[in-house]
Amino acid sequence: MAIQRPKGTQDLLPGTVEQWQYLEETIRKVCRDYGYEEIRTPIFEATELFQRGVGQTTDIVKKEMYTFLDKGDRSMTLRPEGTASVCRAYVEDKLYGQSQPVKLYYSGPMFRYERPQSGRFRQFHQFGVEVLGADQPIVDAEVICLVWDLYQRLGLKGLEVHLNSVGCPTCRAAHREQLQRFLTTRKSELCQDCQERYERNPLRILDCKNPNCQAVTEGAPTTLDTLCDDCRSHFEKVLSLLSGAGVAYRVDPRLVRGLDYYTKTAFEVMVEEIGAQSAICGGGRYDGLVEEIGGPATPGIGFAMGLERVLAALQVQGKFPDPKSKLFAMLIALGDKAQNEGFAIMNALRGKGVPVGMDLLGRSLKAQLKAANREGAEFALILGEEELERQVLLLRDLNSGEQTEVPLSKAIEVIYMKHQRGV
Ligand code: HAM
Repeated sequence: MAIQRPKGTQDLLPGTVEQWQYLEETIRKVCRDYGYEEIRTPIFEATELFQRGVGQTTDIVKKEMYTFLDKGDRSMTLRPEGTASVCRAYVEDKLYGQSQPVKLYYSGPMFRYERPQSGRFRQFHQFGVEVLGADQPIVDAEVICLVWDLYQRLGLKGLEVHLNSVGCPTCRAAHREQLQRFLTTRKSELCQDCQERYERNPLRILDCKNPNCQAVTEGAPTTLDTLCDDCRSHFEKVLSLLSGAGVAYRVDPRLVRGLDYYTKTAFEVMVEEIGAQSAICGGGRYDGLVEEIGGPATPGIGFAMGLERVLAALQVQGKFPDPKSKLFAMLIALGDKAQNEGFAIMNALRGKGVPVGMDLLGRSLKAQLKAANREGAEFALILGEEELERQVLLLRDLNSGEQTEVPLSKAIEVIYMKHQRGV
């Protein structure tokens, strides 16, 4: 039996890869415009980083990590997300000693052992941003505006930012108490997972997708009901900055993110049309995380978006730019001598940055012309025995069909100039 790729992974083939490159280039441009610098961290980390960072009670840590013992008997985990790694690097590489805030972005594969379905993979790719060392609400707004701006530049429609404040440890304690009191008589109606969450992390019950649990928690107190003054004024300032920036947001008091590190602002961006997995981006503030993993008390905020889901939205909405013609010219050489001469011309042009191709299969003139059209080339450069004798090259414009002769000695310069002028 032929070996197959692991379940929940994908081969990205030519044709699709160009779409990824377009998305990645747009991301890099936005990050540069906003003053964010790239960070690259290892694909695997000590398991403890995610246990402490993401949280012992989360689905990610409980059920979804690819964890293994290395040959030195150390427990390692393929990274399920990027925030914990960036915070670890902030501490380990002493980025807190640089001028603050530190504004970083990353892009790369993440791994979660989830049940694969449309929009949900076991190896997926995230682009994420983390800002460390700034606690002001303007940072929350900047980060959300960056996401919004990226989606505008990509031309995505039908987006909505869902926003909530999950408070700080102080106001969360009050919320926890009120929520437990609200649920105390109906605890037994909750699903098994939520019954466990009741003691360990009741906030996550609000996020359960089970319709029963949703019915039980209808009207339950939300974190917005118990925010302390500081968290409330922080949230209000974020909202007013976003309104001023024209971001379409909706306050969603039931938005509870699936990772434990969040404080204050939490948000997700939803897009219609891509099916059940409609969250294309999720993020929020995590003012206790750096300290949790052993660093100095440092506020942080960021987000990550699933690139597969962003690409799915771009595909559904037909938002990819027309693929540019790959080749500017196809060199068509007929006969052995012409091939030698043509090969030299092609390489000289390539050396000058002109994308030129040549037949590699020994095909006929007709088949080579067909291939030139298929590649979207602007010109066919035809060199047969007769042209070689007369020291000329035929330059056929594949759009108009017009054909001219160029002296071989001038061919490279003429074609180079045409490419420079974009004709
Ligand atoms: P997350 O909500 O777990 O947050 O993931 C962020 C995004 O990654 C999701 O909204 C979704 O688009 C994508 N994603 C997650 N799991 C999968 C999957 N199995 N297949 C495809 N796409 C997926 C985080 O990871 C946080 N680290 C975000 C963050 C950064 N918060 C603060 N800074």
